[in-house]
Order: sequence, then C-alpha cells, then structure tokens
Amino acid sequence: MFIDTHTHLYDEAFGGEEDAAVERAVAAGVGKLVFPDISEPSRQRMFELADRHPGVVFPCLGLHPTDLTVNWEAEIEQMLAYRGRRVYAIGEIGMDLYWSKELVREQADAFRRQLDLAHEMDLPVIIHSREATGQILDILKEKKALGLRGVFHAYSGSIETYREIQRLGDWYIGIGGVLTFKKASLPETVKDIPLERILLETDSPYLTPVPHRGERNESAYVPFIAARLAEIKGVSTEEVGEITTNNAETLFGI
Ligand code: NI
Repeated sequence: MFIDTHTHLYDEAFGGEEDAAVERAVAAGVGKLVFPDISEPSRQRMFELADRHPGVVFPCLGLHPTDLTVNWEAEIEQMLAYRGRRVYAIGEIGMDLYWSKELVREQADAFRRQLDLAHEMDLPVIIHSREATGQILDILKEKKALGLRGVFHAYSGSIETYREIQRLGDWYIGIGGVLTFKKASLPETVKDIPLERILLETDSPYLTPVPHRGERNESAYVPFIAARLAEIKGVSTEEVGEITTNNAETLFGI
C-alpha cells in the first residue's frame, strides 16, 4: 500500500470527477490521501470530499503562501472557523518567492503564525518552500524551541540543505513526480536521503510523473513515483511502499 501525502483532488481541475479520482487511487493501491488546505474558496469542498471518504482522505488546515493577501490575519481567522474539525496537519504553509515577491513580509508573518498554531494544536506541518529556503530555515531556527515536526513538500533542495533541515528537528522530505523527469537533479540528491525520511506525494493536479507527464496529475499515479524511487535506491517497490507508508502514518497519525 502507498500513501499520497500531498494531493489536491478537491481542486477545480477535477470538476465533477473528485470522487472517481479518490476511487482510482484506492484501486491503484494508494489507500490513504492527505489533503493540504489552500485557502477559503476551496476549503468547504475539501472537507465535503473528505467526509465522503472517511478513513481514506485526511484533510488539513492552512493558508497557502501564494493565496494570502495583506489581510492574511483575517484569512487565518476565517480558517479557524474550521478548527473544531478533525485535521491531520497545518498546511500547506510556507513561503514562495517564485510566484509572489510582493508580500514577502506577510508570507513570513503568516508562516510564523501558523507554525505557532501547529504547536498549539500539536499537529505536524506541511511546508511549501519555493525559492525561499534561506527565509524558511531562518524562521524554523527562530521556532526551534516549539519542537515542530513535518514535511518539506515537493523537495527540490540540495543534500546540504537536507542535512541542515535534519538538524532542526523531526522533518521528512516529500518526493513526487519530479523524480521521474529526465533532466531532474533530484535522483542524485535522493540517493543520499534515507527512505526512513521520505514521504511519497503527487501534488495533484500538478507535477505529473512520467509516463503521464503533460496530463492532469492524480493520486493513482503514486506507484510510478514509488517505482522510480525503488530503482534509485536499489530496493523493491514493495519495500518503498512499506517504509514510506510507515513514515506517513507515524507523522500524520493516520
Ligand atoms: Ni500543494
């Protein structure tokens, strides 16, 4: 069995096919799906899809760094209206200086606020970090005393950055479709990251693995990523499934 630790099957890209995509995942051996939250417009839809698939879909709460505005404090308040619901992580949160260079300060402050929230709620964190490694690591150093745990989703950093992350606490590395791309440097980095620190993810509907690259991504494609990881590590796909599933169950309590 596999777990997709980062999938947005509630995204508009699935318009009307969300439940079918969940069922295709389960049929492909991807028995558990973690849904990171983005922002208010899709939040209700995310929870409704999760409610229709108990024990399969595990929703989270978080304000995504490219979705927040100058009113981020009110947006987090709005998010907290859902606080009574069972959620499995705070995410996805972090910083993205690729898509948005204007709200750097707001992104950093919203990230800090949500790390505090993860601590208060005793939940793991799903981090979105794009062209912001330095800023993210500085903030995690600031917050080290909180004893946070979580995952660096869609990891694209170096092995040196991985080692620095490990010194900051209990952090996993999220690996997805990029691993299957021909030109990617990720396979080299992944060779030096133990399987015990890796989570599988798709980031559906984005980052579709080979042989479906160019199409809409979905959780049923996790086995392609697992197979590539197995090839790089020189182990069986079953072993990749077993270890990464155990990692995800431990981190998210699912
Ligand atoms: Ni995502």
